Amino acid sequence: MPRDQEPLVIGERMLTLDPRPQGRATIDVDALSRHLCILGTTGSGKSTCAGVLSLELQRMKIPEVILDRTGEYVELLSSLNPTVLTPGKNLVISPFDPKDTYAYKQIEDWISLLDHFSHVTHGIGLSPLQYRVLREVFDTYFHGTRRPLAIHELLSRLEDEEKDFTELRGWSESIEALISKLWPLTHGVVGKTLNTYSRNFDVQQLFEPGLTIIDLSPLPDDRGKNMLSQIILKEVYEEVRKNGRTGSVRLVMVLDEAQHLAPNEKGYVSIPERCAMELRKYGFSLVTCATRPSLISQNIIANSNTLICHMLNNQLDIEYASGFFIGSNIKDSLRRLPVGTAMLQVNHPEPKDSARVRVGTVIQRKMLAADLREPASSTERMVEEVA
Ligand SMILES: Nc1ncnc2c1ncn2[C@@H]1O[C@H](COP(=O)(O)OP(=O)(O)OP(=O)(O)O)[C@@H](O)[C@H]1O
Ligand SMILES: [Mg+2]
Repeated sequence: MPRDQEPLVIGERMLTLDPRPQGRATIDVDALSRHLCILGTTGSGKSTCAGVLSLELQRMKIPEVILDRTGEYVELLSSLNPTVLTPGKNLVISPFDPKDTYAYKQIEDWISLLDHFSHVTHGIGLSPLQYRVLREVFDTYFHGTRRPLAIHELLSRLEDEEKDFTELRGWSESIEALISKLWPLTHGVVGKTLNTYSRNFDVQQLFEPGLTIIDLSPLPDDRGKNMLSQIILKEVYEEVRKNGRTGSVRLVMVLDEAQHLAPNEKGYVSIPERCAMELRKYGFSLVTCATRPSLISQNIIANSNTLICHMLNNQLDIEYASGFFIGSNIKDSLRRLPVGTAMLQVNHPEPKDSARVRVGTVIQRKMLAADLREPASSTERMVEEVA
């Protein structure tokens, strides 16, 4: 059973002019089910902060999965002995697999997956015509078979549809656009991972104790990373709901570079947003990291009860982020944060004043196998050594 009474320690609280720590910076485990967002410009310390959080989650024995777009967490968190899932090797998923039961809902789910993929990768969802043709292709194929439909087969069936309806205006262009979007998923490592009839991934394994890192770095571009992440998120969503409501945290999911999967696009509700909004009572916790608060869905930030913001240097981003912090001179503080320090806003069990935090204790920084910088000043170093 997770030990949920102790808080998570993410570093030391500091005062602006006095570099000596003022006490531990903590977050209640219960606060996690209302999600957490880590912001900051590139190189400001977001991934290190997510790494510190992982150390704490593992200390508390809370299952965690990281969708790692750049592959940096495998090395950073090697001391935790994570299970690493590598696309094309021990991570192969056929996306259109009717499993043992075939139902109309599954077709709608697959089309919805393709719609989300199109939204985040191409900035526009599927057209009504594309919805219609996909529904027809899936429906015809799965009439009487439970064999998965590989992506290359889906494409050749779409090509057949295109030939059959050349006289309908807009039809063939619409199908052609769809084929162009999906074709890159059939080749190379992405193809080995997704364009297949088999699967060696079981979503339940993510809910086992320990840390799982899904290393997306072997996938050469955003298309494969987006599609694989979205398939996994959708499966997690279903599994979390299946397991019913709970008062404790069952799974923490970290999305680094979350702007890719939850862009700030008016009127579009992404898969991570749905997870954040609908799964709170089911023990699911979403941790998102983003470089630019203005590029990530505002729903994601607004639904994150705990905010950690590292240095921001862009006026628009500062405007977006500062509104979530309690205290004076927040905008100025956000601009002046050195690497590895952040403003922390905790709203659980009740909203507190924001605090300036040096992320990671001495021990935590040692456990992270990275080239972490020495504390900024010798006074700080002395204080840490004594601590
Ligand atoms: N808490 C910390 N203590 C000491 N050094 C840190 C800390 N956080 C970050 N650093 C230093 O800054 C570097 C960049 O940190 P990190 O990779 O966490 O930034 P990031 O915000 O995730 O960057 P990116 O946007 O490029 O992913 C680290 O390699 C390390 O040298
Ligand atoms: Mg990073």
